[in-house]
Amino acid sequence: MVETIQLNASKKTVTGRILAKEIISPNGYFLLRKGMALSKWHLEILLNHDIREIEVEKLSSPDLVDQFRTFPGEKEEVMRLYADNVAEVKRLFEAAVTRETPSVQDFMKPFTGLLHKVLTRTNIFLELYHIKGHDEYTYRHSINVGLLAATISKMLGQTDEEVLELGKAGFFHDIGKMQLSKYLLNKEGKLTEREYEEIKKHPVYGKELLERIDGVSYTIVQGALLHHERLDGSGYPFGLRGGETPFFAQILAVADIYDAISSDRVYREKFSPFRALEELVNEVYKNKLNGQIVFPFVQHVINGYMNCRVLLESGEEGTIVHLPIEEITRPLIAVGEGYLDLRKNRSLKIKDVQLDQQNPVEI
Ligand SMILES: [Fe+2]
Repeated sequence: MVETIQLNASKKTVTGRILAKEIISPNGYFLLRKGMALSKWHLEILLNHDIREIEVEKLSSPDLVDQFRTFPGEKEEVMRLYADNVAEVKRLFEAAVTRETPSVQDFMKPFTGLLHKVLTRTNIFLELYHIKGHDEYTYRHSINVGLLAATISKMLGQTDEEVLELGKAGFFHDIGKMQLSKYLLNKEGKLTEREYEEIKKHPVYGKELLERIDGVSYTIVQGALLHHERLDGSGYPFGLRGGETPFFAQILAVADIYDAISSDRVYREKFSPFRALEELVNEVYKNKLNGQIVFPFVQHVINGYMNCRVLLESGEEGTIVHLPIEEITRPLIAVGEGYLDLRKNRSLKIKDVQLDQQNPVEI
């Protein structure tokens, strides 16, 4: 679906929108290609060439781009809610393996407030990446996957009910890990084959544990059981192929992998945000993950990074003006009066990316 938008000097109208048709200047020069995400820099180019209207892809929801942007004043509130959640989730998850199993409502009390905030106010993909540290990983990961899965569901145009279900399923997906030893979960070195076989039991443990909790839905139970299945049949516990895994479990797999590769872990530091996105795209090419879920997700995360500040390993600083989806780790960067194209300057590497020109959030 395509819509025509009038260009004025407002960056808000244009930033993040996807061009539906290539742009040729009035004197015949090729300016911008179809499918690229627009930035304020592109707006300047268009206005300089006297172009007053363009065709862009229609948003699946009218204000989606705005919803996925972070409002600086509210970021702290969301992060505070997040920190409170980690402590509460730890308490509930630990109780889940005792006789005092909490109900779904108990579990959901702290989480739904945060979920609602995230779904309406922030670009969680960016915020989550910028939370540092690996302590309490299992609890953070449960919250993150819940928030990410719900956000992806919303992005794909699913109903409010499905969005909430995906949030809950993401939140509970790894609860089976509570049955594993702390030693195994926090081990820094390489796992032995036997240890890995034990880890692979957590989806089944999760299903069994969830079936004992009052009020759990089919999606929650099956989500825990099937989130490690892969389209090529290489996943576990059943080695299901393609559509044998329900779509909601395929969304959980994307959210799970994205959070795992963009988080600090005991055994390694997280990948750079762009490397994490590239890894996700590679999983589609390897026929592990569904491109219908991954590509729209990656495009939205990319849009959120437009105009962010980056620091290069060479010490230079600049602003991201274009992130090519075909090579996400090699953006075009505005530096001073000029531009650096990392696809052409292959030796240049990104050291750090900053949101809103603020420091990463520590919790
Ligand atoms: Fe898992």
